[in-house]
Amino acid sequence: MAPSAEPAASPGPTPGRAAADKAGLRRRLAQARAAMPVAARNEAGRLIRDCVLGLPEVAAAGTIAAYYSVGTEPDTRSLVFALWKRGSYVVLPVLLGDGDLDWASYEGPDSLAPGPRGLLQPLEPVRGVSTVARADVVLVPALAVDVAGNRLGRGGGSYDRALARVGPQVPVIALLYDPELLPAVPVMPHDQPVRAVARPGYGITRLPCAE
Ligand SMILES: Nc1ncnc2c1ncn2[C@@H]1O[C@H](COP(=O)(O)OP(=O)(O)OP(=O)(O)O)[C@@H](O)[C@H]1O
Ligand SMILES: [Mg+2]
Repeated sequence: MAPSAEPAASPGPTPGRAAADKAGLRRRLAQARAAMPVAARNEAGRLIRDCVLGLPEVAAAGTIAAYYSVGTEPDTRSLVFALWKRGSYVVLPVLLGDGDLDWASYEGPDSLAPGPRGLLQPLEPVRGVSTVARADVVLVPALAVDVAGNRLGRGGGSYDRALARVGPQVPVIALLYDPELLPAVPVMPHDQPVRAVARPGYGITRLPCAE
């Protein structure tokens, strides 16, 4: 009997290769962020804040899942404060031991306390990992996003878990510096895409796009 013809394995990157590519790209992006003058990072945070506050979906949102920036991330602290001040219900992540994200409400700058990995986290009671599924807008950190919407995070997989719970119609917006929307980032099957990016010099870019 003739041996059955196995379909050829599809080419494309192996998981090990994609993981190594992600690690290398993360290093380069983190170095570029660290090399930015503090004043430029702060100005980027202000511009991103103003463009996100101006989005109709954000203005109309009852509940916004956001995050409190740390390190060299574009600053979100004044954005979170402004959203809360104008009456949105803002929930912030609380990192769980297994890397998943729970959520609790932001009730002003005094409602936060230091958490793991340098994070500032809400002191309010956690509301469950599925809280993010009830948000009208989700703001997410990223080191880079590509024109198809693929997102590269810091490598914990936390946002891949959280975004898997978010419906396809919900605006998921990553906040980036200008050079961080790339032609392609390495992607694995578990990676969850975003639907837009906000950048200081370009405002909102809906994805996928042809840029
Ligand atoms: N739903 C999941 N359940 C368990 N592990 C997961 C899940 N999603 C991703 N992971 C794991 O998380 C690890 C990091 O994933 P990845 O490199 O995509 O992180 P990332 O998207 O850059 O990080 P983050 O989402 O935290 O910003 C991978 O080893 C992956 O297997
Ligand atoms: Mg991922």
